[in-house]
Amino acid sequence: MKHTNPWNNIPLEDYEKHMQHEDDVAQAQLLNALIYKYLKKYNPENILFLGISGGNGLEHMDADKVQRVCGIDINQTYLDETKKRYSNKLGQLELFNLDIGNSTQSIISADFIWAALIFEYVDLQKAFLFIENNINKSANIIITIQSNNGAGSVSQTGVESIKSVKDIFKTVSRHALEETASKFGFKLSGSEENVLPNGKSFITLEFLKG
Ligand SMILES: C[S@@+](CC[C@H](N)C(=O)[O-])C[C@H]1O[C@@H](n2cnc3c(N)ncnc32)[C@H](O)[C@@H]1O
Repeated sequence: MKHTNPWNNIPLEDYEKHMQHEDDVAQAQLLNALIYKYLKKYNPENILFLGISGGNGLEHMDADKVQRVCGIDINQTYLDETKKRYSNKLGQLELFNLDIGNSTQSIISADFIWAALIFEYVDLQKAFLFIENNINKSANIIITIQSNNGAGSVSQTGVESIKSVKDIFKTVSRHALEETASKFGFKLSGSEENVLPNGKSFITLEFLKG
């Protein structure tokens, strides 16, 4: 599964160009602001990033306070770049090349999980099984999903390679997400919706365990 996943065929440069496209997308900037906000709100010590990509937001970690910061991605080249960018400033950073839709490995007991735009590409149930094996008794999980509001699943930014993930993209229903989270013992504790320049929006849901 890991090697055939289309995410392994997209250069990080292309993904980041796509996410930073100002007129149509500006998604990276919004996600960066959201990470900042939720880190400030919860001041976590043991953090898990699911689908960390190039590490957007890692600059907001307080290296004097955090104990462990674990990042996971299916694409090893993204992890290599993230390491280059951040390991000097954040000695607590550990990176793992795993498929969260196909792993029950336990790497951390996280009190904060950041999962932005990844559930669109992974089976919900399997992702929560992975989370269950990597979470503290008491924890917050922040999940951002995309709501298309009638626009295409993957925005038009002129970046060709990104189109290959369309085949595995599925819109995540907020209802299904809340139901699955509840089955795994998470309570919804907050939510917000942010509309992007292209009319799509990001829905961010905060869940609490313990
Ligand atoms: C749409 S990007 C989101 C990246 C980042 N969270 C952000 O908000 O910019 C999805 C990321 O998840 C990774 N990914 C996709 N499927 C995965 C899986 N099954 N297991 C681990 N990582 C996965 C991709 O390689 C990519 O870096």
